[in-house]
Amino acid sequence: MNTIHCPADCTLVLPNFPSGSIQLILTSPPYKEEDGYSVDLLRFFARQAFSLLAEGCFCVVNIGPMPTKQDISSRCSVLLEDAGLQFMFKIIWKKTFKRGGGIGITFQYPRPYNYYPNIMTEDILVYKKPGKRERRKEGEYSRDLVMRCRTDVWELYTSPLENAFPMKLADAAIQFWSYPGDKVLDPFAGHGTVGRACTALGRNAILIERNPALLGELKRVGRVVKH
Ligand SMILES: C[S@@+](CC[C@H](N)C(=O)[O-])C[C@H]1O[C@@H](n2cnc3c(N)ncnc32)[C@H](O)[C@@H]1O
Repeated sequence: MNTIHCPADCTLVLPNFPSGSIQLILTSPPYKEEDGYSVDLLRFFARQAFSLLAEGCFCVVNIGPMPTKQDISSRCSVLLEDAGLQFMFKIIWKKTFKRGGGIGITFQYPRPYNYYPNIMTEDILVYKKPGKRERRKEGEYSRDLVMRCRTDVWELYTSPLENAFPMKLADAAIQFWSYPGDKVLDPFAGHGTVGRACTALGRNAILIERNPALLGELKRVGRVVKH
């Protein structure tokens, strides 16, 4: 069963959850100022992630390269490590359409300092809370999924019309880093992709989203908690 907190600010909601009560955090924090990005919010998120995760459980963060003048992904990695989480992998998610930059200007003015590549990747930072989680024999995933994600470059193609966070990405991360029945937290839930993937895979999502305009969509994913 999924639980939805919307409209709700995760900085107010997360401190009320018991520490060690979450088995996977899977999220895409805001990385544009107009969506609520700030270094303080990322730092708060990293500290909460450390406290809320059970030992040996994973925190998976999808973060894009925009705005291009700050390397937010590297900054996020430092904050996650400062909070006590252990680095596992950095997966490059390769898309088929460009997200920013543009080689057009380079073609038009092919002279020094005019190089701007089309940005077609985002990072997926995979961190773990130190400790060991007991292994079980359930939750086997398909060979097809293993083949699609066999390197640290995941070619999960999406169309420009699809939400920033594709279902295929949520589906892979949930299967790799949680068991059926686990609690999966997305404190920046957006359109609720993590919730829909959890329903399909038998996990329990806890979604938090501050934008009231997304409530209609999120209502279809689970039970709404009043604030
Ligand atoms: C990059 S988007 C997430 C996209 C999402 N993964 C999806 O599948 O649609 C970040 C989301 O975080 C939300 N947000 C920003 N600050 C927040 C906060 N303090 N508490 C809860 N949600 C917040 C924004 O409204 C936005 O919907």
